[in-house]
Amino acid sequence: AAAGHVGHSVPSGFAKAAGPAVKPATTPFTVPMPLAPELRPVRSTAAFDRYELSVKQADVEILPGQKTPMWTYGGGFLGPVIRARSGRATQVAFRNELPLATNVHLHGSHVDAANDGYPMELIEPGQTRTYTYPNTQQGALLWYHAHSHGTDPEHVYRGQHGFYIVEDPAEAALNLPCGAFDVPIMLRDALFDASNNLVFGGNPADRNVALVNGKPQPYFQVAARKYRFRIVNTATERVFRLSLAGAKIVQIGTDGGLLPAPVEKAELKFSSGERVDVVVDFSQVPFGTGIVLTDATFGPMLRFDVVRRAADTSRVPARLRRLEVLPPATVTREVAIGTDFSQGGPIPVGTINGRPFDHDRIDMTVKRGSTELWNISNADGAYGFTHNFHIHLVQFQVVSRNGGPPAPEDAGLKDTILLPPGDVVQAKVHFTDYLGKYVYHCHFLEHAAIGMMGQMEIVD
Ligand code: C2O
Ligand code: CU
Repeated sequence: AAAGHVGHSVPSGFAKAAGPAVKPATTPFTVPMPLAPELRPVRSTAAFDRYELSVKQADVEILPGQKTPMWTYGGGFLGPVIRARSGRATQVAFRNELPLATNVHLHGSHVDAANDGYPMELIEPGQTRTYTYPNTQQGALLWYHAHSHGTDPEHVYRGQHGFYIVEDPAEAALNLPCGAFDVPIMLRDALFDASNNLVFGGNPADRNVALVNGKPQPYFQVAARKYRFRIVNTATERVFRLSLAGAKIVQIGTDGGLLPAPVEKAELKFSSGERVDVVVDFSQVPFGTGIVLTDATFGPMLRFDVVRRAADTSRVPARLRRLEVLPPATVTREVAIGTDFSQGGPIPVGTINGRPFDHDRIDMTVKRGSTELWNISNADGAYGFTHNFHIHLVQFQVVSRNGGPPAPEDAGLKDTILLPPGDVVQAKVHFTDYLGKYVYHCHFLEHAAIGMMGQMEIVD
């Protein structure tokens, strides 16, 4: 019989032992929402910008006045923003100062296989690995995170998550809110013990604190004008459903960049790994008041306080970016994500097309240059398990969901697609330049860790 959840990961033992979970007593809207620092290049040449970042243990203030040991990029809760420009390469040298092996994957990146952070290729303690990202893709919020097979749920949960923004001139020319009015936000969950340690393991659904840029229920002081918020869900296993009373949410982009046209959304629904890019206009919110961003599970998450006036020449044009028309698909594939309880034991096996991940096996061979149609299904409808599906290297264009038109959250370029129990999503994907081996998996990281992952090899 199915347990109440799929994912279950055993802690590595390298973190401070945590006591029983408690619900921290915090007062809503008493701390400001922190902003992620920007990483400065250590060197810029005609061809690339080079960055250096340490992966290290640090005591981070999450709960007011308390320290929580974390595994961080650069020492803070939020991995710093690496700002790249479309068409210009970046090199990022990650130095592993943790006592255990790790690696880094740039989620949403279009990159050659050697720089993709393959789950079996690790950076040993004390070693540095430089990844080169070509940024030959349109503007988008990407994010970097640990991707070591079997152990990444704990690494990401303990803090290995950071922002990576690709900017491009076509996007800049649209005059969307920018600079201080373009704010990256990271949402995730956490569970604490009485000494403010993170509790890892067990059912991720039990994590009872939502964190917005690393704080529970912060406030954010805004001017009475338009803001762009680029939001990433870095929880290892969670769906957020956000709504905002008092102002409209206009979605302008998704995982892979801008939508063809802006859409007004009553609710933003997005799962682990997915991004939503939105504009909120605070000019109609009564001056001196606040409006609250609310999640369907956690309740109030973030209060926007309108505290000052500011000029606003930004706009949200009716057309943002044309979605590329892909050639007709020449290959159709079935990809079914599921859970196998037949082995017995407390932890099931995660599968794709009935098989758990095996790094020695190629699950599909894809011809470079081809366009394919993938029927991606959640085969766990009977168990009621939610999954999602993330592919490396490329972005999907969703064609249909359950035989009908795509859901609003399916629009645009998607590298991670939410799959509620029993759902079937049909998506088109085009393989252009790179060859080699890439993984695809459920981005509920506890699920991928127990096998819900496969790999494709792109060949000539
Ligand atoms: Cu966000 Cu395979 O990863
Ligand atoms: Cu899953």
